[in-house]
Amino acid sequence: MAEDLLIVSGSKEEQYRQLLPQLEGLLQGEEDIVANMANTAAALKEQFKWWWVGFYVVKGDELVLGPFQGPVACTRIKKGRGVCGAAWEQAKTLIVPDVEQFPGHIACSSFSKSEIVVPIVKNGIVTGVLDVDSEHLDHFDLTDQEYLEKIVGLLNF
Ligand code: SME
Repeated sequence: MAEDLLIVSGSKEEQYRQLLPQLEGLLQGEEDIVANMANTAAALKEQFKWWWVGFYVVKGDELVLGPFQGPVACTRIKKGRGVCGAAWEQAKTLIVPDVEQFPGHIACSSFSKSEIVVPIVKNGIVTGVLDVDSEHLDHFDLTDQEYLEKIVGLLNF
């Protein structure tokens, strides 16, 4: 079955508002977490044209690269390392307006200037993170946090 995403314009909040039910529809009825992470990354990239959007999955004491859209990226990140490892360790969303100011930031791409990392938490345990990078400084705010947290809540793991 063909799946088409309706790309919308308007304020960022409006874009998220229209994307959310479409994502719900896309993920509903599919049990496979890799398929759902892949479609989520693709839908976010298509709508927002961010530099990089993707998932890291907790495996043992590391985050391992999962489905993503954008340039190739680092494959393994230790707990507490970089923005992703810090978001995992702290189990909270981190918004980094200027990655150069973040101690220990892992530069997978020199084009990345700002970043948001949203942990995926199930029963109090972080099972992975959603990482979004922008080539613009100060690109993410509390609206992104609010909606990206809702979006990772749709994932079934
Ligand atoms: N910058 C991240 C690493 C992942 S890439 O940006 C895709 C970090 O500091 O954890």
